[in-house]
Amino acid sequence: MLVKYKKSNNKVAMGLLSFTAMQHKVDTLQMTIQKYEEDPNWQLYLWKENDDFIGLIGVELNEYTFTVHHASVIPSYRNEGIGHKMVDKIQQLHEPLAMCSSYQMKDFLGKCWRSFHPI
Ligand SMILES: CC(C)(COP(=O)(O)OP(=O)(O)OC[C@H]1O[C@@H](n2cnc3c(N)ncnc32)[C@H](O)[C@@H]1OP(=O)(O)O)[C@@H](O)C(=O)NCCC(=O)NCCS
Repeated sequence: MLVKYKKSNNKVAMGLLSFTAMQHKVDTLQMTIQKYEEDPNWQLYLWKENDDFIGLIGVELNEYTFTVHHASVIPSYRNEGIGHKMVDKIQQLHEPLAMCSSYQMKDFLGKCWRSFHPI
């Protein structure tokens, strides 16, 4: 299930965020987490299963849309559908806002979109 990020989850969130592109340096990671902690329009969620945090998804809220900036799943849980579930839940959570993608998320979100809306 998706749970809202809390400061007490800082280390696990930094670990998950470090899997995403552009987040390999500790300074960059800290700045990104700080943005999610301080800007109310930037919201971070963790995916929790059996008491473990195994995924992360971060969005920025706009007036009529929201943008997915980050998503990651720990490597041993990848390709089990967790990424798709996170995208589905984050969309449900923010309805009726339309989901948009950051440049770095576009390929994965495109894949999710095609599997949610098969022709
Ligand atoms: C992207 C990510 C969150 C997907 O999570 P996941 O739980 O493995 O995803 P799912 O199991 O729901 O979907 C797996 C499918 O997505 C594909 N996929 C994974 N990463 C992808 C990407 N960056 N672009 C396009 N497709 C991707 C897989 O190849 C797989 O395809 P298949 O079903 O045709 O075999 C995960 O691979 C990850 O943490 N990657 C590192 C961080 C990252 O690159 N994040 C995205 C940019 S911020």
